[in-house]
Amino acid sequence: MKELYRLIPYLKRYKKKLILGLIVVTIANLCATYVPRLVGTTIDMIVDGNYDMNKILLNILYILLLTAFSGYFMFLTRRMIIVASREIEYDLRKDLLNSIQSQSMNFFHKNPTGNLMAHATNDIPAAREFLGPAIMYSANTVTTFTFALYFMLTLNPEITMIGLIPLPFIAYATYLVGKKIHIAFKDVQSKFAELTTQAQESISGVRVIRAYTREFYEYTRFAAMSKEYLFKNLRLARIEAIFMPLLMVLVGLSHIAVLAYGGNLVIDGRASLGDLTQFFIYLELLVWPVAAIGWVTNLIQRGAASSARLGKLLEEIPEIADNSETDNSINKIEGEVEFDSINYKYPSTENIVLDDISFRISKGNTLGIVGSVGTGKSTIINLLLRLFETNSGAIKIDGHNLKSIPIDLLRKHISVVPQEPFLFSETIKGNISFGNPAATMEEIIAVAEKCKLHEEVLTFQNGYDTMLGERGITLSGGQKQRVSIARAMITNPSILILDDSLSAVDSATESFVLGNLKEFMKDRTTIIISHRISTVMNADNIILLDKGKIAESGNHEQLVTLNGKYANIFRLQQLAKEIEEL
Ligand SMILES: Nc1ncnc2c1ncn2[C@@H]1O[C@H](COP(=O)(O)OP(=O)(O)O)[C@@H](O)[C@H]1O
Ligand SMILES: [Mg+2]
Repeated sequence: MKELYRLIPYLKRYKKKLILGLIVVTIANLCATYVPRLVGTTIDMIVDGNYDMNKILLNILYILLLTAFSGYFMFLTRRMIIVASREIEYDLRKDLLNSIQSQSMNFFHKNPTGNLMAHATNDIPAAREFLGPAIMYSANTVTTFTFALYFMLTLNPEITMIGLIPLPFIAYATYLVGKKIHIAFKDVQSKFAELTTQAQESISGVRVIRAYTREFYEYTRFAAMSKEYLFKNLRLARIEAIFMPLLMVLVGLSHIAVLAYGGNLVIDGRASLGDLTQFFIYLELLVWPVAAIGWVTNLIQRGAASSARLGKLLEEIPEIADNSETDNSINKIEGEVEFDSINYKYPSTENIVLDDISFRISKGNTLGIVGSVGTGKSTIINLLLRLFETNSGAIKIDGHNLKSIPIDLLRKHISVVPQEPFLFSETIKGNISFGNPAATMEEIIAVAEKCKLHEEVLTFQNGYDTMLGERGITLSGGQKQRVSIARAMITNPSILILDDSLSAVDSATESFVLGNLKEFMKDRTTIIISHRISTVMNADNIILLDKGKIAESGNHEQLVTLNGKYANIFRLQQLAKEIEEL
């Protein structure tokens, strides 16, 4: 249960609402439990025969009023406690996303997206059900029980004891059945998720399915899954069907006991008919609050398990974060970059990815990095952005050790255009201004022009307001890359990195964009990674990476004169280009 303590700080924020909720639930139940007493006394008046009609009418009026009050206060209880729990749910969700976003890349390697999504979709609602319904129903049960018990005991302690005997069984039965229902329900849910994924794949992959005439196979697979889903649903319905009759039997037993014992008392003249009626109504009043005990026990157990899982995520300390080494007096980045004997291997593997890498880029210069796939080009960028921490050697920016630069500042001033552009299901405008939401339309158009996007965007029906992704249009690979470059440029970075981000763009467009980039980046530092030599040949300095080592370095002319690997690759690519142009 101590896992639940973690939620206390959240409860404290909504203390006022919760306390008010507890007060109104008390008033609601005081009203509700006084009604049977009024009914009982009214009946006794009528049975007595010698009654005053006005008094009876007045009692009926009281009953009506009390019932209305109780309903109104119950409504207020929900408004307080359930609303507070929804607000806490909102807080929890925000905190969870915040904590996840601050984690290092290694964390995401250990916690796949699916797992993180499961925490958001299962654990947060479970915690909320504990904070809302569990607290509200517990308060309801405690207050109803206290008041009803008081009224019953003052009336007749013996009938009270006898009527209460079956109640613990009601609580226990709800607990057991509730547990079974929850398991069956989860089963139904996960089957449904499988079914949806399968349907989604069949629909989005319809072209491949048709091309290979696999329609029948897909159909039978889906039908089989659908049938399993049906069976799971039937099982859930069966368990739910047991619950009500079981409850009714237990309630019935309690009524029989009261009738047998209380009836005798009435015959002996030791209790009145009104007393007996009161007992029946009290027992009815108690059924749901008592059943709630079993149900709430389940909610608490689930809430505790979920809260423990959430706690682990919320309290996870990011591996890479500002700490005592951080020098907060650093408030700008000029753009001089230095790698000094960097060796690196990823935490999850054993291979050495970078082997004694050293280079220096002066502010305003361009470094080109070439090398085949998997030689560690992107890893250099990962380390520069501190997505991963270096093992040995040092990286310096403007002479400051990377570890002393505040991480936010670092990432704000370095823009990376990744190999695989990631565009959001947003407008083109929104995608370009992602890193600088305050950008004006003029600024957006200016960078789009530099990336040779502007005219293409104007051919779309909604221009810059055209939606991308699922709800909009699909851009070509080259267009995506250029949107991604425009996005990087609009943040005015001190250091701009293109990680093979022109691979899908034709050579003419590529030289156009690179030409503009040179102008745009003239006082800033640029790193261009490519497998195409034509992309990097104008850089001030070029390094050729081979299996994590710097094999050759120098400017284009020097490397061609060196007549080594670089020159060789260059000749091969020239040849390929000439053949292409034939
Ligand atoms: N997150 C990672 N965890 C473990 N190994 C990785 C990770 N990223 C890349 N690698 C490995 O590191 C090597 C270099 O990768 P990378 O820097 O992406 O190469 P490049 O960008 O030159 O194609 C590859 O062998 C790759 O499999
Ligand atoms: Mg790469």
